[in-house]
Amino acid sequence: MDEKSNRFRMIAKTIAGLEEVLAKELTDLGASGVKLVKRGVEFFGDKRLLYRANYLSRTALRILKPIAIFTAENEQQLYYEIGKINWSEFLDVDGTFSVDGVTTYSNITHSKFLALKTKDAIVDQFRNKFGRRPNVELENADLVVNVRIFRNECTVSIDSSGESLHKRGYRKATGPAPISEVLAAGMVLLTGWDKNSNFIDPMCGSGTIPIEAGLIARNIPAGYFRNDYCFMHWSDFDKELWESVVSDAKDAIVDFKGAIVGSDRSGRILTITKENVESAGLQNVITLRTSFFADLQPPEGEGILVMNPPYNERMKTEDIVDLYKSIGDTLKRRFAGYHAWIISANIEALKFVGLHPTRNIALNNGQLECKYSRFEIYEGSKKQMYAENNVEPEVIEEPIKKTGKRKRIVK
Ligand SMILES: C[S@@+](CC[C@H](N)C(=O)[O-])C[C@H]1O[C@@H](n2cnc3c(N)ncnc32)[C@H](O)[C@@H]1O
Repeated sequence: MDEKSNRFRMIAKTIAGLEEVLAKELTDLGASGVKLVKRGVEFFGDKRLLYRANYLSRTALRILKPIAIFTAENEQQLYYEIGKINWSEFLDVDGTFSVDGVTTYSNITHSKFLALKTKDAIVDQFRNKFGRRPNVELENADLVVNVRIFRNECTVSIDSSGESLHKRGYRKATGPAPISEVLAAGMVLLTGWDKNSNFIDPMCGSGTIPIEAGLIARNIPAGYFRNDYCFMHWSDFDKELWESVVSDAKDAIVDFKGAIVGSDRSGRILTITKENVESAGLQNVITLRTSFFADLQPPEGEGILVMNPPYNERMKTEDIVDLYKSIGDTLKRRFAGYHAWIISANIEALKFVGLHPTRNIALNNGQLECKYSRFEIYEGSKKQMYAENNVEPEVIEEPIKKTGKRKRIVK
């Protein structure tokens, strides 16, 4: 920690593919020393930023505060180093804690074993000091310890969030294959939507994407519906500072006059969607419609369309091909002026949309590696559009390959 400025290092975890969006969010919130890491962002800030990042970041899954880094080539070294940390600084003997462990490319090979050994070292320190020990509680513990070993280098952090930040608290129920709120928010932010033009999700399912768009449009904090974060149980919790963070954020909520449409072919799912929209207080912002995409009439004007169609590895090939072909046809017929973004794990099916993507981003939806592709829909041919506007075709980013290299081609 930098004693003078009270700034310390933090790590925000996210979904693979959202690192840059998260880095921008954190920079906008006042982070310094921002650095992208695998599925996360390292940054520096003070306690206020720690609270703000938890409450306001839409693409962070959790915010960790590292407290020790050391080499752990074996179990004894790990136990010794964990024992050197003064745990009563972070946890009361009557409190509860849990340990989350992950190990990769290291001599200690099992994550569960890593967590268990860490827990033992913490418990033994309390027993030796007080003759008593805090209890382990897997859910809602007062202190969540995060221990990661990569190539025998161990980072011990305390988790300021607790329950993953994707659990916003507005979703009452879901349809099949809902996406994470963090992924949905990241997808909306990646479109660069101006928050004025139309926003449409024509296969909205339980409504995660339009709801996240609505929260973004109204500047409603991501944590608006959530009451608990782990940092509230820390001994240094500053209630006044937290309340000022919440009150400043609530003062910054704005009205939204544009149109956000969520639509789906299933009326049954839309009853769930309606509940979720109401629970997020966005019933005056989001219009829900029951419609097949092919029949959907967009509101007047241009806008952004974001779609999470079925990927259906299980669906018969002809069905999925027909679905993606009809998506392309409908976009061309009805959505001139739109930027359409489609996320899919079915890369073969995506080709049947029959339009050239102008951007491809690799994103993970749970365990599924997906492509998030942008299609710019124009009246007439693209060639004609380029000629009329006297513009050069854009550089296309190919998804990150397994080698970790980004291939760039110009079409
Ligand atoms: C993967 S789910 C979307 C999940 C959603 N993003 C969420 O978070 O709940 C795909 C949705 O597409 C809808 N769907 C499939 N084909 C459709 C079509 N031709 N027109 C409109 N909706 C369709 C399904 O009913 C389903 O709700």
